[in-house]
Amino acid sequence: MGDRRKYIVGNWKMNGVADTIDEATAIARHATDAPGVDVALCPPATLVERMARRVPTLAVGGQDCHECESGAYTGSISVAMLVDAGARLVIVGHSERREGLGESDSLVRAKAERALAGGLSVIVCVGESKRIRDAGDAERHVTAQVAASLPEDFDPARLAIAYEPIWAIGTGDVAKVSDVAAMHAAIRDMLRDRAGAEAASVRILYGGSVTGDNAAELLAVADVDGALVGGASLTAAKFVPIVEAAAAIE
Ligand code: 13P
Repeated sequence: MGDRRKYIVGNWKMNGVADTIDEATAIARHATDAPGVDVALCPPATLVERMARRVPTLAVGGQDCHECESGAYTGSISVAMLVDAGARLVIVGHSERREGLGESDSLVRAKAERALAGGLSVIVCVGESKRIRDAGDAERHVTAQVAASLPEDFDPARLAIAYEPIWAIGTGDVAKVSDVAAMHAAIRDMLRDRAGAEAASVRILYGGSVTGDNAAELLAVADVDGALVGGASLTAAKFVPIVEAAAAIE
C-alpha cells in the first residue's frame, strides 16, 4: 500500500463570482490545519487567479484545459494559462464534459498529458451511466475508461483518478459502499497491471453526492483516497465537515 494522503477536492462547476471567494477563505482557515489531508478547490476559470492570490494556502485548480499548447481555440483555456493564474491542478474528463460535449477517452488522455507536461497535477474522471450499471457492466466500462484516458507515462504523485458514477452526481443518490469498494479495487488492480508498484501511489477519489453525512463511511473504504465534491463544496459549512471526516481517518 502506498503512502497516500487523503485528498479532498471541491469542484465548483459553473458556480461562483468574486464574493464567493469568501467561502474559499473560510474553507482554507479550517482545511490547512486538517492533519494528513490535502485540500484543493477548482472554481470556474474566471476565479482561479483571484482565488489563488487571495487564498495562497489552498491548492487552486482548473476544471478543464485544452489539449494543445496554444492557438486558435476560441473560449478554451490552456495549461500555461492555468499555471500563469496560479493553478496547481486541473480536472480532466468530467462526465459533464464527456457526456455534454462528447469528450472521448483519447481527448481526455491528451489533456492529461498536456497538463502533466505543463507542471500541473491532474485528476482524471471516469464513471458509468445508470444504464451501464444496471446492465452489470460498470467495472469493465470504468476500467476500460481508465486504461484509455491515462497518459502513457505519468508521475503517480501528480495523478489522481476520480470515480464518479454519473447517476450519483448531483442526485443525492450516493453509490453503495460495497459497489464503491469493488470499483476502487478494480481500478487499483488495473493500475497495478499498468504501472506496477508505482500504482500504489496514485490516489483514487470517489465523487457523487458526497456530503458531511456520508463522507466518513466512504472515506473509510480501502482504496478510497479522497473525494471529488460538487454541491457540498460550495460553502465552508458543507465542505469543512468532509475535510474533517478525512482528517479523522487514519
Ligand atoms: P456532487 O457532489 O454535486 O454530486 O457532484 C460531484 C461531482 O460531479 C464532482 O466533480
